[in-house]
Parts: sequence; structure tokens; C-alpha cells
Amino acid sequence: MSNSSLDERTLVLIKPDAVRRGLVGEILGRFERKGLTIDAMALRGMDAELADQHYAEHVDKAFYPPLKDFMTGGPLVALVLSGDQVIEVVRGLVGATDGRRAVAGTIRGDLSLSNRENLVHASDSVDSAKREIALWFPELG
Ligand code: TYD
Ligand code: MG
Repeated sequence: MSNSSLDERTLVLIKPDAVRRGLVGEILGRFERKGLTIDAMALRGMDAELADQHYAEHVDKAFYPPLKDFMTGGPLVALVLSGDQVIEVVRGLVGATDGRRAVAGTIRGDLSLSNRENLVHASDSVDSAKREIALWFPELG
């Protein structure tokens, strides 16, 4: 499979801090204005089991327990976006993991001051996008 196809998809979570802070529209608007397509979207909760699956690569790390508490602590917005090179494009719009270091102009750089409560999750590769979309939106196949 190509890494740059026009119909590439990515899984995005607008995290509980963004919902709590009333930033869903602000964040969604940035993806829309970029020209990306919303293929699926839902207000969801992340339970402990889904957290362990979604963050499988991080479950053994020291930062995971507080991350899990945060991510399971309130509703989030899960969405699937598509567009040309959408995985890389969305990672660029989101910015570096630590909001204190993320470049101004990015979502985290403009709106987050935290290395944990950083507003958005976005898939980091074609393989993780496929895995994460199957986890959150199995009906998309
Ligand atoms: P990671 O996959 O490294 O970052 P990204 O979301 O940019 O792909 O980490 C997943 C999430 O874990 C990250 O968004 C916030 C949290 N996290 C911490 O709480 N502490 C940390 O030291 C790191 C690296 C991440
Ligand atoms: Mg990651």
C-alpha cells in the first residue's frame, strides 16, 4: 500500500482536556480548514480496556498510569480523517508531544502547556492508523 494515497486515513482523538476546555470546535475547525475530510466522528468514553489497547506501546511506561487516568476521566471526540498524506499532515498540525515545546501555530503549541494534557492524539504511521481505526471504528473495516 502507498504511504501517500489520496484516501489515506488517520485516527484522531480530541482528548478529554479539550472537551472540558471547550476547544472541540477550535481543533476540529483547524482540520476542516486544512481541507481534510471527516469520515467518522463520535463523542465517546475510553474505558480501561480500550486505553490499554489504544496505548499498547506505552502500557509499561512510568507515565502510563496518570495518562490512563486522564484519558478515561471524561468524554472525548474520536474521529477518522482522510486526505492526501493525512497521517503526516495531521501530526504536523498537532505539533510536538510536549505542549511547552510544540511550535507556535500548531494545536499543542498554541493551546497546551502540558506533556500529558496535550489535547489531541493522532496516529503516527500507516500501520498504527489501521490498528487504531479498527479499534475505534470497526464498522469502517
Ligand atoms: P507519545 O506517543 O510519545 O506522544 P504523541 O501523542 O505525540 O504521539 O505519547 C502518547 C501520550 O502519552 C502523549 O500524547 C501524552 C502522554 N505522555 C505523557 O504523559 N508523558 C510523557 O513523558 C510522554 C512522552 C507522553
Ligand atoms: Mg504516539
